[in-house]
Amino acid sequence: MKQSGVTIWLTGLSGAGKTTITEALEQKLREGNYSLEVLDGDIVRTNLTKGLGFSKEDRDENIRRIGFVANLLTRNGVIVLVSAISPYREIREEVRGKIGNFVEVFVNAPLAVCEGRDVKGLYKRARAGEIKSFTGIDDPYEPPLDPEVECRTDLETLEESVNKIWHKLETMGYLA
Ligand code: PPS
Ligand code: MG
Repeated sequence: MKQSGVTIWLTGLSGAGKTTITEALEQKLREGNYSLEVLDGDIVRTNLTKGLGFSKEDRDENIRRIGFVANLLTRNGVIVLVSAISPYREIREEVRGKIGNFVEVFVNAPLAVCEGRDVKGLYKRARAGEIKSFTGIDDPYEPPLDPEVECRTDLETLEESVNKIWHKLETMGYLA
């Protein structure tokens, strides 16, 4: 049977673990020979959405473009892993509506935990006022109200998070 496409959309604060989960899930899917692509906000912003900033307008445009590409791939049977903060609920719902085969994953850790990790030193710079409009500090994040999966990365292991997503994909029939 031909693999059916799906977009797995990981949303959450900077430092919540989106990229880490994406990479682990990517590896597991590759081991199963699934055809997949990864669209990570940090990388996409160096090409497809280069030049966009972090105003609401620019973030929405970023998400719209990512969603556009994800849709093209999904309808051709690819498993698409998107990891982007995607802080606004309305645009996430818009993309969900366009793609159809859509699994929203809320990568959730309290702001204090994300800030404590501060992998890239961005929270420190945001607190110092060197970066403006930083999500969670002086810019909003609207958590999903009914995500297919929630990963509490402060409470569960990476393996548990990946397995949760995997199990949901199985039960929804995307890993046949
Ligand atoms: S969005 O809101 O979905 O358009 O953002 P995204 O494309 O995922 O890009 C987030 C990454 O950009 C870095 N960065 C910032 N994040 C949030 N707010 C501000 N102001 C900002 N400036 C730079 C940061 O490295 C984000 O990567 P992650 O992986 O989320 O930490
Ligand atoms: Mg990342």
